[in-house]
Amino acid sequence: MTAEHTPTKQSKAKQQPAKQLLQSAASETALSQAAMLWGLGDWPSLLAAAENWNPEHNSALAAYKIAALLQNGDIDQVKAILAASDFDVIDRQLLSKLLIAGVLNSLGKARACSFEHARAQQLFEQSVNIGLPYTAPATLLRARASTQLAQLGLPNIQQHETAPLFNPDTAHFLQSATAFFQDEPALELALADYYQREQRFDQAIVHWQQVSAMLEKDTPQPYYERLKEAYRNVKGFPLGSVEQETLRGDIDKHKLLAAIHAKLEPEFYFEIGVQTGKSLALAKCEALGVDPMPLLNVELSKNAKVITASSDAFFAQKSDMLLSKQVDLAFIDGMHLFEYALRDFINTERHLKPCSLIVIDDIYPGHIDQANRDRCTRAWTGDVWKVKAILQQFRPDLVMLAVDAYPTGLLLITALDPDNTQLEQNYSAIVQEYLSKPLPQAEVVQRDGAVSGKNEQIFKLIDLIKQCKKQGAGAKVIQEKWLELYSRGISQQ
Ligand SMILES: C[S@@+](CC[C@H](N)C(=O)[O-])C[C@H]1O[C@@H](n2cnc3c(N)ncnc32)[C@H](O)[C@@H]1O
Repeated sequence: MTAEHTPTKQSKAKQQPAKQLLQSAASETALSQAAMLWGLGDWPSLLAAAENWNPEHNSALAAYKIAALLQNGDIDQVKAILAASDFDVIDRQLLSKLLIAGVLNSLGKARACSFEHARAQQLFEQSVNIGLPYTAPATLLRARASTQLAQLGLPNIQQHETAPLFNPDTAHFLQSATAFFQDEPALELALADYYQREQRFDQAIVHWQQVSAMLEKDTPQPYYERLKEAYRNVKGFPLGSVEQETLRGDIDKHKLLAAIHAKLEPEFYFEIGVQTGKSLALAKCEALGVDPMPLLNVELSKNAKVITASSDAFFAQKSDMLLSKQVDLAFIDGMHLFEYALRDFINTERHLKPCSLIVIDDIYPGHIDQANRDRCTRAWTGDVWKVKAILQQFRPDLVMLAVDAYPTGLLLITALDPDNTQLEQNYSAIVQEYLSKPLPQAEVVQRDGAVSGKNEQIFKLIDLIKQCKKQGAGAKVIQEKWLELYSRGISQQ
């Protein structure tokens, strides 16, 4: 084809009827408007303008609309536009540029929420500049950062030197940030940090715990350090009414644990959740405690060792320490959220023998408000009560005895099966199902089915464990012998 016959844009336009010309002029205007609003990061205005476009007929406009919808978290609309639009190579390139820029923008917002302003500014700038053949003007870069911070209810980055980090109107911040970061660790992180700076440590603890509930086993140790700082400084949690703070039990848990140590005579004791060291100090044998923020104030035996790490980090990196040991007794008393206690049980069982004994604390809230995942009372069990229900549902093979210990009950578990993978395999489904059961039933608070802390069954169970250990008996034998002794095991109640 000679140059003479190459159809230029102009000659193509000449052949177009007037209606098409008008449409394409309107698209050009819409496109420059879209590009400007996108540069500014004004997603609400961009979406309002998009109401007048017909993105199916112009996939470049569709790309801008998609970028704004993604910033607003509207995935369903994005899918619908993608299905209806026909992107050519050029517009695909634009779309991918905008998507990458969108990720950078979201990261910038997350950094802003966790007070990393310099990094936030950098990310906003990278987002605006991505794919541009020149550097965007400084005013545009500043505008992008301002709009994003304003959308989060945060003051402008330029004001950070002098202005308070957050809008003094905290409620406004919470509202706008929650709208943008629902169920996002970044929001919880920002709130935890905010309350810590404000020295409102009880609230900071609640939000640090939420951060770790969301990040689960990936919670970085520095967050636990901040939580520890909050615990060190907290003057106390809001005191609920007398009823809300009810505690029950006919034997003190440390007294009962001491009696279990004396009767069982473990060779090795393992503990998750050490705090002051009161329960770890009961071990006279070799002992290992794990806590990401121990606050030791009790003298421990010289055979006791404390590892500063979350239980998840311990099991991921250091649990070999347990392999060569005969762990006869393990006490799970770490994070008071059921998924933590469940993971602690799964990981602990894997390292124990069938005739070892696991004790789980906090299975009985004294009042339903103590079972709240967000702590709102001084006495707090969180929703660890769910672990007992989960074990009854998924592990009927275990021998369990729930004890009416003071202040929040204890669950004794034996006939362990280190090779059983039921809980592990169903972990995600279990967590999903049990997260939607927010409140314990009355029978949980009333401790239906719990035995007294002075009940002979506790010591019969320990005798059985010792006997089975001597004989090297397996889990099945322990279960059968227990049923012979007490036909109504807790798993049948
Ligand atoms: C109720 S206290 C333990 C009390 C202690 N067992 C006693 O009876 O004396 C709970 C402890 O669990 C710790 N903890 C919180 N999250 C944890 C985690 N992910 N892994 C292990 N321990 C954790 C806390 O730091 C706190 O010290």
